[in-house]
Amino acid sequence: MTRTCLSVVLAAGEGTRMKSRRTKVLHEVAGLPLVSHALASSVEAGADTVALVVGRDAEAVTALGQAAGASVQSFEQTERLGTAHAVLAARQAIAEGYDDVVVLFGDTPLLSPDTLRRARIHIADGAAVCVVGFEAADPAGYGRLLMEGSRLLAIREDKDASADEKRIRLCNSGVMALDGRKALELLDRVGNANAKGEYYLTDVVEIARADDLDVRVVLADEVETLGVNTRADLARVEHLWQERRRAEMMVAGVTLVAPQTVFFSHDTAIEADVVIEPNVVFGPGVSISAGTVIHAFSHLEGARIASDVSIGPFARLRPGTEIEPKARVGNFVETKNTKLAAGAKVNHLTYLGDASVGPRANIGAGTITCNYDGFNKYRTSIGADAFVGSNSALVAPVVIGDGAYVGSGSVVTEDVPDEALAIGRARQVTKPGRGAEINARNAERKAGRS
Ligand code: UD1
Ligand code: CA
Repeated sequence: MTRTCLSVVLAAGEGTRMKSRRTKVLHEVAGLPLVSHALASSVEAGADTVALVVGRDAEAVTALGQAAGASVQSFEQTERLGTAHAVLAARQAIAEGYDDVVVLFGDTPLLSPDTLRRARIHIADGAAVCVVGFEAADPAGYGRLLMEGSRLLAIREDKDASADEKRIRLCNSGVMALDGRKALELLDRVGNANAKGEYYLTDVVEIARADDLDVRVVLADEVETLGVNTRADLARVEHLWQERRRAEMMVAGVTLVAPQTVFFSHDTAIEADVVIEPNVVFGPGVSISAGTVIHAFSHLEGARIASDVSIGPFARLRPGTEIEPKARVGNFVETKNTKLAAGAKVNHLTYLGDASVGPRANIGAGTITCNYDGFNKYRTSIGADAFVGSNSALVAPVVIGDGAYVGSGSVVTEDVPDEALAIGRARQVTKPGRGAEINARNAERKAGRS
C-alpha cells in the first residue's frame, strides 16, 4: 500500500542578508537553485505533489517547480507572518486530503530524502506529527525540543525560551511530517501570542499533545539541516555538498586523485573505473562512461563522453559535445556542439564548433573551425579517416570527405571530396644563398648603430 504525500516547500523568505537582486532560494548549490534541491528531495522521498509557497520572484521560483518533474502547485504568501502562516498559504492543496504532509524549507538544500522518508514512516505508524530534530553544536537561534523521556512535549523558539531551555542542544530542523487528515485542523489552531508575533509551525506539537495525539521525533545529522542566509552560508553548503558527492563518487568506483580539487554539478553522472585527475570542474549535463580518464585542469559542461576516452589536460568541453569510445581530446582544445566519432583524435590547440568528426580522423594542432560569420553559425563535417594538417582553418559550411587530406596551413573554403588532397595556402618560394645575404646586411646595420 503506497501512501499519498504532499510536500509543502516554504520559499517565501526574502533573504535580504544575501544582498542580492534575486530572492534567496534562486541562488545555486552545485549549479542547482536551493529550492530545486528541496523539490528534488521531496520527489525522491515520494511526494506526489509539491506545494511551493513563494514570495519575492514568485514567477521565477514557480518556473523552477515546473522543471522539477513532480506535479507542482504554487501559492503566494504575500505577508510573511510565520512558518505556520506560510504552510497555510497552501491550504487548498492540503485540503485535497493526502495521507502525509511534509513541510520543508526551500533554503535547506542538504536535507536527504531518507530523512523525509523516516519521518513519513512514523505518520504511517499512527503519529499525528513527526519532527526532524538534530543535536546542534551551537543551538543559539534554533527552536529547542522539550522532551520528557522519548516524548516530545513542545518546541520552544529561541526568542521565547527560558535560560534553562536555552541550554537544550536538541533542536528543530524545521522539517516536519504531519498526518494529512489532521494537518489543517492543527494548523488552524496556531496563534501568534509569542515573542515574534508570528504564527509558528512549531506550535502544532503542543496543540497535538493537548489532543493526546502521538507526536514523535526523528534525528538527522546537523549538516542536513543547514539553511542558507548569507553568501558565506552558501559557500559552506556548497563545500559540504561537494564533500558528500566526492565521497559518493568514490564509493561508486570513480577514482579521484585529489578529491578536494574536483567540483561536480548536481547532475554529473560518472561510471565506475573513470579516473578524474586534479582540478577538474563539471558544469551541468555531463556523463562519462567506464574507462575514461579526465586529465588535470579540464572544464566540462553539457558533454556526453563514452568509454575509454582521454580528455585533457587543459581541455574545455562545452554544451553539445559528444565523444565516442576511444577518442582523444588533448590540451588546449575547445569543443562546442561537436561530435567526435570513435577513435578520432584532436590532440592540441584546436577549436571545434558545430562540427562532426568521423571515426579515426586526425585533427592536427591549431585547427580551427570557423563556424560563425558574425550573424549565423555553420557546420563543419569531417569524414572517417580524414587527416587535417596543422594550423588549418575550416571555413564552414564545409565538408571534408572520408579519407581526405588537408595540407597544413590551409584555409579550406570549399568542400573536399573523399580521398582528395586539398591545399589552400601560398606556395613556398626558396632562393638559394639569399638567407646568408640578409644575415650579413643585418649584421652590418647593427654594427653601424653601436
Ligand atoms: C525555524 C523554526 C525553528 C527551527 C529553525 C531551523 C519555526 C517557528 N521555527 O525558525 O524551530 O529551529 O527554523 O532553521 O518554524 N518562511 C516563509 N514564510 C514565513 C516565514 C518563514 O516562507 O512567513 C520560510 C523562510 O523562507 C525559511 C523558513 O520558512 O525558509 C524558516 O523561516 P525562519 O523565519 O527562518 O524560521 P527560523 O526563525 O529560522
Ligand atoms: Ca532560518
